[in-house]
Amino acid sequence: MQLFRIILSSFLMAVMPFAGPAAAQTQTPPIIESDARFQPVIAENGMVASQEEVASRIGVEILKAGGNAVDAAVATGFALAVTLPRAGNIGGGGFMLVYLAAEDRTIAVDYREMAPMAAHRDMFLDAAGNVDPRQARFSPASAGVPGTVAGFVHVLEKYGTMSLHDVLQPAIKLAERGVNVSYGHAQSVLAAEQRLKQWPESAKIYFKPDGAPYRAGELWRQPDLAKSLKAIAERGRDGFYKGKVADAILATMQKYGGPMTSEDLAGYKVVERPAVSGAFHGQRVVTMPPPSSGGIHVVQMLNILEGYDLKSLGHNSAAYLNLLAEAMKYAYADRSRYLGDPDFFDVPMKKLLDKAYASRIRSKITPGRARPSTEIAPGMAQLAEGPNTTHFSVMDRFGNVVSNTYTLNLSFGSGITVEGAGFLLNNEMDDFSSKPGAPNAFGLIGGEANAIEAGKRPLSSMTPVILFKDGKPLMATGSPGGSTIITVVLQMVLNIAAFDMNIAEATAAPRIHHQWLPDALFLEPGIGADTERLLIEMGYPVQRGRILGSTQSVMHLESYFYGASDTRRPGAATVGY
Ligand code: DON
Repeated sequence: MQLFRIILSSFLMAVMPFAGPAAAQTQTPPIIESDARFQPVIAENGMVASQEEVASRIGVEILKAGGNAVDAAVATGFALAVTLPRAGNIGGGGFMLVYLAAEDRTIAVDYREMAPMAAHRDMFLDAAGNVDPRQARFSPASAGVPGTVAGFVHVLEKYGTMSLHDVLQPAIKLAERGVNVSYGHAQSVLAAEQRLKQWPESAKIYFKPDGAPYRAGELWRQPDLAKSLKAIAERGRDGFYKGKVADAILATMQKYGGPMTSEDLAGYKVVERPAVSGAFHGQRVVTMPPPSSGGIHVVQMLNILEGYDLKSLGHNSAAYLNLLAEAMKYAYADRSRYLGDPDFFDVPMKKLLDKAYASRIRSKITPGRARPSTEIAPGMAQLAEGPNTTHFSVMDRFGNVVSNTYTLNLSFGSGITVEGAGFLLNNEMDDFSSKPGAPNAFGLIGGEANAIEAGKRPLSSMTPVILFKDGKPLMATGSPGGSTIITVVLQMVLNIAAFDMNIAEATAAPRIHHQWLPDALFLEPGIGADTERLLIEMGYPVQRGRILGSTQSVMHLESYFYGASDTRRPGAATVGY
């Protein structure tokens, strides 16, 4: 461990307070014969892809110091809580897939937020019975009981090799000594200025005393957050859910009128669930079960699409995008009715994942035609009884893989910083269906399955994935993007599994999105005008102007790691060694 401390402290000296560009690869990269326009990062020993460069480098230092993918993932996750506070967090929750090479087993870890015990179905309805979006999204009541710290402690204790103290040191030092504000962070704070300034503690942390924002390159310290991280390093899970940090959460709740209690905090539970698994032309896709909806629907859409010769249609041709969009509509319609927290609602998983069900949906799809969403309903094919989030992927030289997506829900969550504790509270309660048919922040609707109940977890679209080929992990990927996460991840899997792209091409390729309701087909700028015209002729209400997702992916092929960080959002980096 001594060696680890020396390596880490020299690394921290190097990155702080001036986080420079990634260190040059010292090894000779293998020659890849490819005419692709996009080239991945290549390395031999291990790799981390995340939305923020300093955090990726911290993960790689942990790998270099002998840590495994879980150690590196937890260190990266805590570092993102400091360097990417719009989504990286300790006040939110998420999902982590851990593939253990030695056991050839993938564990799905659910550390999603839980509704406080005082939560109830109508809590976000106003006097007229309408959803009050301010209460649901930007109030202390919009926060679910945070799961991130419990989740990270759980996976580290069970599957990591290093101490919590050691993996937390880089994050603590970043918070204490400060980071140089990245362009991406400066931009995200400006975008959320109004919301953050409503809460004095958030204004104090994210802005200078005179109210001016920190500019890119300026030194920004978070001493309160450093104290909270130290409490976790010293006392583990109890350092967050009990004691001073917990007291600070409760004081903030009391001051602004939120329902979370000490019992809610102490009672937070991490759940390991059987991973969802599907097969696409013999390649295994392993992903997150409910309360993620993403895993089930990615597999469902792959099942539908397996019945077509996609490659012959041509990548991103109108004919191909037509099939994608139709599959998306059926999946999101089902999502609205059948998906919710499996501890509260009997999700018909087997049926939704059934290839025969997918084939019945396929029979309803007429190639060349857009079926209006009004003609599609949940379970239509006789089912016998989808801002800010962030993903990171890690692979180590032992063959272990971590695919992790976590979030505060919207960018900077509820906007509310826990007073004196330096971190933001999520607004995940808006992921519940507050009223049947009333759209949430992502335009998603739902009903009974995802109604608010005490202790329940809100349905999520977060979709960490591990794709296997010949029994070995080929790719770990995932994305932010609210309801669009599911379709973004689907297209990443298809780009690799059906179109044999390299990971960088697969990442850069233009994307589309349809979520059944609203009946709109979103096309990224890279989808050409001729294709758009053909899609309009098929009947699609086409919309432009949205950029979809930000994938962070690592691939292992033969004896090399290949990685790619999406260029759709600034600051991301894939680092290998
Ligand atoms: O769990 C979910 O589905 C949402 N809370 C994710 C939010 C999100 O991705 C925002 N990011 N861009």
